[in-house]
Amino acid sequence: MIKKLKNQPLGWGLIGPGRFAREFVDELREIEDAELVAVASRDSRRSAEFAKDYGFKKSYGNYEEFFEDEEVDIVYIVVPHVFHKALSEKAISAGKAVLCEKPLTPSVADTQELLTYAWQHNVFLMEAMKTGFLPAIKKAKEWIDAGRIGEPRLLKADFCFQGPTDPEDRLMNPELAGGAVLDVGIYPLYLSRYLLGEAKRISATGTLASTGVEESVAIITQHANNSSSAMTCSFRTEEAMDAVIQGTEGEIVIPKFHAAVTAKLRQDGRVIESYRNGSGGMVTAEIKAVTDTIRAGHTECPGHTHTDSLELARMMELVRNQVLATS
Ligand SMILES: NC(=O)c1ccc[n+]([C@@H]2O[C@H](COP(=O)([O-])OP(=O)(O)OC[C@H]3O[C@@H](n4cnc5c(N)ncnc54)[C@H](OP(=O)(O)O)[C@@H]3O)[C@@H](O)[C@H]2O)c1
Repeated sequence: MIKKLKNQPLGWGLIGPGRFAREFVDELREIEDAELVAVASRDSRRSAEFAKDYGFKKSYGNYEEFFEDEEVDIVYIVVPHVFHKALSEKAISAGKAVLCEKPLTPSVADTQELLTYAWQHNVFLMEAMKTGFLPAIKKAKEWIDAGRIGEPRLLKADFCFQGPTDPEDRLMNPELAGGAVLDVGIYPLYLSRYLLGEAKRISATGTLASTGVEESVAIITQHANNSSSAMTCSFRTEEAMDAVIQGTEGEIVIPKFHAAVTAKLRQDGRVIESYRNGSGGMVTAEIKAVTDTIRAGHTECPGHTHTDSLELARMMELVRNQVLATS
């Protein structure tokens, strides 16, 4: 467990100065209770450059020295999915709290093993699923729970974009657990579970890329409260990536739901209430929740628990197996 004085900010270390790391750190560096301590890469030049660009104190060209750095309290892991488990375990065994990018691991078995590892070491671990921390998404849940759309019946959500075609790219490469489900399908699956509850039944079909990873996938889920979800994810089509939740007395529209900024409540074809997030971007609320949890001495964040990660892993595995079986 991290013991840090209230007047000392938490020391952050980052592994994987790549595509998403930049977006994350743009917001992390605005957080008062965060000190940018160290960056680790396989390439010392890349980590040094990243550290200089964003104001980290130190950089490492290997992971071993990074894990020994006593100023690092929390490790943010932002590398391809297949490396999440081993790196999280190394960080945990060094006594560091871990925020690991989604998906926590590519399989249910590995996710379970990693969660158990964190639990046995009594160290904070969270999958970086930003969506449920966003105020606009919380507002949508509040509207549903308050009966503002009546009985929820149907959720529609997509995460589709024109992705890379290079077979070596991590999204296309099976060796790096590429494929649309683990990378972006996780978002609509997350949203449907968050807003409608556990899925009783999941059906999926889709097409595979030439490399064998899922390229385009359609998913239908059925939930206990008599509601359903219809979702898609793809690297080959361009969609608005909005979510709509329709109920017996109204609907909620969430533009670009995975990084939601606004949510609208509609009844009889009219917007009757609009909500917009306050300050902070797409990961600020998540970072603050992680900080608060660690400060409170807890090892699991109530906003995205270990059970949540495991259930998400179960949904994704089921979907991927069905796509493989039907394509
Ligand atoms: N939460 C979100 O909104 C969000 C958004 C995008 C991505 N993500 C997640 O973040 C993770 C990284 O995504 P990304 O798009 O940032 O990845 P990326 O740019 O392809 O790679 C990130 C870093 O991982 C390391 N890496 C790449 N390939 C590697 C390999 N074959 N072996 C070892 N290390 C390798 C590299 O670091 P070095 O070369 O410097 O060692 C690279 O800079 C993924 O798990 C993804 O799901 C989350």
